[in-house]
Amino acid sequence: MIFANWKENGSIAMIEDWTYDFLKATDDELLNNVDVGIAPSYIHIQLFKDLLEKAKVMIGSQDVDYGINARTSKVSASMLKDFNVNFSIIGHSEVRNLFNDSNEIIRKKFKTLISNKIQPILCIGESENEFNAKQTLKVLENQLYSVLEGANIENCIIAYEPVWAIGTGKTPEVNLVNDIHEHIKDVVQSATTNNFLPNVIYGGSLNEGNASSFFGQTHIDGSLVGGASLNANSFVKIIKEYSKVK
Ligand code: 13P
Repeated sequence: MIFANWKENGSIAMIEDWTYDFLKATDDELLNNVDVGIAPSYIHIQLFKDLLEKAKVMIGSQDVDYGINARTSKVSASMLKDFNVNFSIIGHSEVRNLFNDSNEIIRKKFKTLISNKIQPILCIGESENEFNAKQTLKVLENQLYSVLEGANIENCIIAYEPVWAIGTGKTPEVNLVNDIHEHIKDVVQSATTNNFLPNVIYGGSLNEGNASSFFGQTHIDGSLVGGASLNANSFVKIIKEYSKVK
């Protein structure tokens, strides 16, 4: 499974060009083979839905709010559901760091997505200091337990995104990522009441050049792609690498 996180990028003209290139470079066989999703800004969700109407592509949001009514600026899970949004990214490190999302807030967002039947992509990851201090597993366990403990879930994807690898061109060793993903699966199984086994995808400076080395690993079930997804041809090359290897 390959997901695009567009962050604060995109315009009407750019999305028209991007979807044109994307549809030219993909076909039904590829999109039936690989689960593909795109998370643009809220205001571009419907445009993507219209332009990719005939293609098997999921459209998601980059965040969700946990409340209703008097919360100016926010978008609820029921509003997303109304637009048939398929998935929602929560816990991205940029939202944790720039907008102070705590694990407690992320747990509320998680719950509202589950009750509205929107698939969460829960992002977790350690900072560079935590990585250097060999705290990675401890940090990830805390992020997972505080959101998932006691949950009974049927569909949730975990995105492992080391904060220091996002947009930096630096990536961890693929073997290490594989071991971390295996550990994440164990933790999610023990945190959830129904021993849920999640797909775990990797994000952080993944591109068409390094994608296949990640996808060759047993426990890496795909990617959440940032910068490299903004070019339709690069994004499709990543999807094709995934389809070749998996
Ligand atoms: P980059 O692929 O640009 O490093 O971003 C990864 C990311 O943050 C996806 O959510």
